[in-house]
Amino acid sequence: MSKQRWGSRLGVILAVAGSAVGLGNFLRFPGVAANNGGGAFMIPYFISFFLLGLPLMWIEWTIGRFGGGFGHSTAPGVFDTMWQKNRFVKYFGVMGIFGPVVIFSYYIYVESWLLGYSVFALIGRYADCTDLESMRAFLTGYQSLAGTEHFPAGTAYLFFIITFAINIIVLSFGISRGIERCCKWGLPLLLVIAIILVIRVLTLGTPDPARPENNVLKGLGFLWNPQWAALKKPEVWLAAAGQIFFTLSVGFGVILTYASYLRRNDDVALSGLTAAATNEMAEVVLGGSLVIPAAFAFFGAAGIQSIADQNIFDLGFLTMPLILGQMAYGQIFGFLWFFLLFIAGVTSSISLAQPAIAFMEDEFNLTRREAAVLFAVVTFLLCQPVIFFLGNGVLGEMDFWGTTVCLVVFATIEVILFGWVFGIDRAWTELHAGSDIRIPRIYRFIIKYITPLMLLTILATWIFNDWKKQLLLEGVEEANRPYILITRVGLLGLFVFLLLMVRIVWRRRPEATCPETDQ
Ligand code: ALA
Repeated sequence: MSKQRWGSRLGVILAVAGSAVGLGNFLRFPGVAANNGGGAFMIPYFISFFLLGLPLMWIEWTIGRFGGGFGHSTAPGVFDTMWQKNRFVKYFGVMGIFGPVVIFSYYIYVESWLLGYSVFALIGRYADCTDLESMRAFLTGYQSLAGTEHFPAGTAYLFFIITFAINIIVLSFGISRGIERCCKWGLPLLLVIAIILVIRVLTLGTPDPARPENNVLKGLGFLWNPQWAALKKPEVWLAAAGQIFFTLSVGFGVILTYASYLRRNDDVALSGLTAAATNEMAEVVLGGSLVIPAAFAFFGAAGIQSIADQNIFDLGFLTMPLILGQMAYGQIFGFLWFFLLFIAGVTSSISLAQPAIAFMEDEFNLTRREAAVLFAVVTFLLCQPVIFFLGNGVLGEMDFWGTTVCLVVFATIEVILFGWVFGIDRAWTELHAGSDIRIPRIYRFIIKYITPLMLLTILATWIFNDWKKQLLLEGVEEANRPYILITRVGLLGLFVFLLLMVRIVWRRRPEATCPETDQ
């Protein structure tokens, strides 16, 4: 089967940027930033971007294109071609399929809430919710976590089915006609919507004259005035690094897969930089000018921190519709807000699906449609516990294994393979093959020493601080333990299944030797 290719350079950049720009930019970022003291967060955030995010972005583009030359689009094959003498490294690559599948299975459910809320905003469904409590009751009702009087049974499930179907349809059209086309429309559209909303928020001024200290400018100051003392807090660094991984989609294995559809001499250095910069622009310039200043103007500094403390998504899900609902044309602005999030979600979730689909296509010679259908069946089943046992901690457990564990471990393996096993000289040459820019040489040093050191430090800190607590289910209600344990066993089963698949595939295949040469 001939390898799929991107239609254009702009297309691949928009696809990678589309993967990166997601719920992380507009929902997670303001929540995490508010949780970690606003200005206290931004310095570790930018340092993590330059020392972790950007190097990993370049690494994934480079190794993806390299592995793609051998006909591999997923991490097991890519790692195997990078370290051909090692028989085990391909098994580590399984994380680059497992992680995205697990994240997809809950991400898409959250994405479907946004479609539901877009419709509710337009038809004024939550218009009678005029404070945080009633907005929260509306959300928990929608999620079937509490009284469901607002909704006929199955409302959330209906939106989930529609969202799921949209994703699978896009995926079944393949790389250039499906993913690329979706991102070529989706990303510009969402950026335009975000700009409209930013203008609206920045012109909010001081909504309550009795409380002049609560205004939009002070809200921007909350995010942008640096607080140097926070640099001493390890938890702020961990939160910043976690946000960088999540928002750039690095350490998932998805950018690597996207890059595998490039040709040998396609640029990766400038394209990787452009995709990362687009994401950061969407996150800090647009994402940072929406929820935080708006919520600050209405609830003040203490208010937004206490809202974000309860749940990092609450700022976006509860405060934004409340605030937008009070404006002229509130229904339209509310719709734009949730629809923006929905599009951002779709362009990201399709990227999470692609590694598993590519694995089935490359290694089992399934057609695009067959792979998409099989993927749909498996992930549809995985979504069910997330939906039906949302209140029992299943989503949190999947997030822990998919995001916290897999991302960091996978990124650590990638960077060590690239800088040490592949070797920094060869890696640097490979990164610059066909490149339109020269990356500053300091990045040789950063990629070889600083990024791995930071990752190992994060890993060690998490193992000592959080993992034990998480593994032993400390602080988890007795009633929820069985649900979490069953989820854990299920995830372990999926992981072992993928390991077995890799074993079977490699037993059947002849040795990979020379790269494909189509230009
Ligand atoms: N990078 C994607 C997001 O930010 C996963 O939502």
